[in-house]
Amino acid sequence: MNRLFLRKSVQDCENDLQERGGLKRSLGKWHLTSLGVGATIGAGIFATTGTAIVGDPLRPGAGPAIVLSFLLTALTCGFAALCYAEFAAMVPIAGSAYTYAYASLGELVAWIIGWDLIIEYAVGNIGVAIGWSGYFRELLSHFGLAMPAWLATDFRSAGLAAEAVAGGATDAANLYLASALSSAPELFGVRFIANLPAFLIVCLITVVLVLGIKESANSNNAMVVLKIAIILFFCAVGSTLIRPENWNNPATGGFAPNGFAGISAGAAIIFFSYIGFDATSTAAEEAKDPARDMPFGIIMSLVVCTVLYIVLALVMTGMAPWQKLGTAEPMITALASAEGSPRLIAISRFIVSLGAVIAMSSVLLVFQLGQPRIFMSMARDGLLPPFLARVHPKFKTPYIGTIITGLFVATFAAFANIAEVVDLTNIGTLFAFVLVSAGVIVLRKVEPDRVRPFRAPWVPVTPMISIVTCLYLMWQLPALTWIRFGIWLLLGLVVYFLYGMRHSRLAARRE
Ligand code: ALA
Repeated sequence: MNRLFLRKSVQDCENDLQERGGLKRSLGKWHLTSLGVGATIGAGIFATTGTAIVGDPLRPGAGPAIVLSFLLTALTCGFAALCYAEFAAMVPIAGSAYTYAYASLGELVAWIIGWDLIIEYAVGNIGVAIGWSGYFRELLSHFGLAMPAWLATDFRSAGLAAEAVAGGATDAANLYLASALSSAPELFGVRFIANLPAFLIVCLITVVLVLGIKESANSNNAMVVLKIAIILFFCAVGSTLIRPENWNNPATGGFAPNGFAGISAGAAIIFFSYIGFDATSTAAEEAKDPARDMPFGIIMSLVVCTVLYIVLALVMTGMAPWQKLGTAEPMITALASAEGSPRLIAISRFIVSLGAVIAMSSVLLVFQLGQPRIFMSMARDGLLPPFLARVHPKFKTPYIGTIITGLFVATFAAFANIAEVVDLTNIGTLFAFVLVSAGVIVLRKVEPDRVRPFRAPWVPVTPMISIVTCLYLMWQLPALTWIRFGIWLLLGLVVYFLYGMRHSRLAARRE
């Protein structure tokens, strides 16, 4: 039992860091904020908001009250952010939640988090790639290019669209997706439907990452400016197209057509759009003054995204009746459904789709970059095989982990349904938040004298609220998501007992 709860003390982490020589400390507080915003604004806001507003066969939609869903999720993330900030300032070492858990809750929980982070990063990226593909298709259409639907979607989305069409839907998006079923070629008696753009973008990003990119803080800053500019552009154009009755139309159920149930279900979906502010913590080793700047970066990036999201949600639901927004490209749908100058709308659709494609590419890059580095931290600790920590002799990148991640993400991106992937990502990430919050309480008990440059206020109340609110959002997710998550964790335990436990460097050192 003791063996499973072996803790890598904060001192152990610091010794390891000295042994391998840390990274260069060059990031200031605004750089860190920009890193968080860069990792956060992506498919969540551009793609998943539609399902959260309208709902799907498994849950009710929030309607115009999606604004409250964004607030609810922001509060949940806020409490978790305070916990992340305490850890990031105290253990300023790469590895994020995995490292924190190793220092507070012991090896088994650290393993569970590391395994769970695969869901946040790799599975999350499957969702981003699918979202990217939707906006890419829209972008192509402005050049008169159309992809056959069977090469641009997944089986489930095509089926749902076909059902909607059978039920009387006549909108272009549903008609297009439904056509995948009738036009797809058969392969061994099964209709072959695959999301080719999603597959190809992940392959491309993987190649770039294996060759190594000069990820500079400046290029990230440029990306962040672009993302904020696109959202502000959409809000500016959209605000001229608002018809206030869309916010509270009694004929369509008013402001919150499905009450608090819809608001909560929506909050659990759009949680995806907040994932990434915690990625700031992976840069702790590169922060100039981690004690002061990490908490600032984490909390400020959350604040910036929250403000942008709430304004955007308000504008979007004012532009069109909420039931029309349930697509994978809701901002485009809002523009298409709004009543205004056709020329202004066409130009705006082009600008928004171009901006969204670029914005989501940057999220893909950050997450695809992060996953092999988490593998690397775990492999260095002996919990995963050493080849995952191997660095390419010429390109100096963790190429094996990068390629494995790329193949995994690309393959699933080709066939998975975005809503299912987002649900799984959310449950996994919320669970990581729960463990990090619990870790704050535990570490205050077991290492009370450790210097804490940033102390989360009102411990244990703050982490407890974080735990309860995260569990509440998890609870809103479909039963199937829980089952998939449970299977993933079980698989992780098998791998740990068969491999990690036997190769742990920490255990070997303590013997
Ligand atoms: N928050 C990230 C996105 O929305 C995962 O793309």
